[in-house]
Parts: sequence; structure tokens; C-alpha cells
Amino acid sequence: MSVRILALVGSLRAGSHNRQLAEAAVKLAPAGVEIELYEGLAEVPFYNEDIDVEGGVPATAVKLREAAAAADAFLLFSPEYNGTIPAVLKNAIDWLSRPYGSGAFGGKPVAVVGTAFGQYGGVWAQDEARKAVGIAGGKVIEDIKLSIPGSLTRFAETHPSDDAEVAAQLTDVVARLHSNVGAAV
Ligand SMILES: Cc1cc2nc3c(=O)[nH]c(=O)nc-3n(C[C@H](O)[C@H](O)[C@H](O)COP(=O)(O)O)c2cc1C
Repeated sequence: MSVRILALVGSLRAGSHNRQLAEAAVKLAPAGVEIELYEGLAEVPFYNEDIDVEGGVPATAVKLREAAAAADAFLLFSPEYNGTIPAVLKNAIDWLSRPYGSGAFGGKPVAVVGTAFGQYGGVWAQDEARKAVGIAGGKVIEDIKLSIPGSLTRFAETHPSDDAEVAAQLTDVVARLHSNVGAAV
């Protein structure tokens, strides 16, 4: 049975370079690893404890939780918005952090990577994402780091899949995340 990695992308725009990074990861996943690029984060409403009650959870949030529950590990792709994590990704983390103590991250391995236009490649956002997802119950693999600067120029005409350096870095990220699945906590 394949190891299932759920990819969550913190940008909703159609031409998102973080989405393209995730697409590249899907393509280069080795045999025995299946990466699902989660669709539908835009439809998940802002987290609200008033609706996170039995019978009240929106179907879009239930679907996200089910996809996360079925995953063995998570790969988060985050750009940086105003020096921190985009709201769409933070919202997904918030939904997956509850019910408190039994959220879908459930001690499973999580790696955070991404690209942004700035010279540090969104490192602040990716650090914030690691902090949040760790508090939310994920087992963050702290030494998996990939922050690619200059997104808008570097990927203007080259899809990350066709950028040999990036493809090699992503291959390494996926292999290291995979190696943490089933590892002792
Ligand atoms: C609201 C907003 C805030 C941004 N703030 C930052 C920032 O703090 N640091 C940075 O490097 N880039 C920043 N950018 C530029 C993004 O890094 C760039 O648009 C990036 O390509 C977005 O990722 P995407 O291609 O996946 O959509 C910002 C972009 C937007 C729209």
C-alpha cells in the first residue's frame, strides 16, 4: 500500500508558483508514495468554534478533515504574505487542529516548503507554518527546509518540474518526509 502525503497549498491563485511546486512534487513522487494536491481550501469557511459542533461542521471542512485523516504525512507549500503565513493555509491548519487533542495531524510527519518573491523565499511564513502545525498536533520535520526566492522571475517561464535544481531539491524533500513515516516519535 502506498504512503499517502497530503499537499496543502497556501495560495489560491490559478498561476500560483507554490501550486506549481506541489504539482512538481506530485509528478516526482517515487513508487510507493502518492501525493494528493488538496483542492478546495478556498471553500472552507473561516474557522469558527460556533460551527465546529456536531452536525454543524460545514461539508467542506469535513472533507478536508477526512482527507487529512486518510493521509500518512503532510507537505505544506507556503508563499509569504506580509511577512507571515497566508490566511488560507492558517485556516486549514486551524480546522485540522480540532477537536483539541485529536485533530487530523495526529502526530504525523509534516514538512513545510515554499517559494515567494522576496529574497528569502518566504522563510518567515514557512517558519510560522512550522510553529502553527506543530502546536496543531503535527510532527514537524524541522530540518526539511526549502525556501525558493524570486518566485515571479525564476518560474516566469519555467515550471518547477522543468527546473533541474528545484526538482532535485523537491525529490530530496519528499524522500526525507517519506522516511519519517512510521518512524518512532
Ligand atoms: C498580499 C501579499 C503580500 C505579500 N507579501 C510578501 C512578503 O512578505 N514576502 C515576500 O517574499 N513576498 C510577498 N508577496 C509576494 C509573493 O511572494 C508572491 O506573490 C508569490 O509568488 C506568491 O506565491 P504564489 O505564486 O504561490 O501565489 C506578497 C504578495 C501578496 C499578494
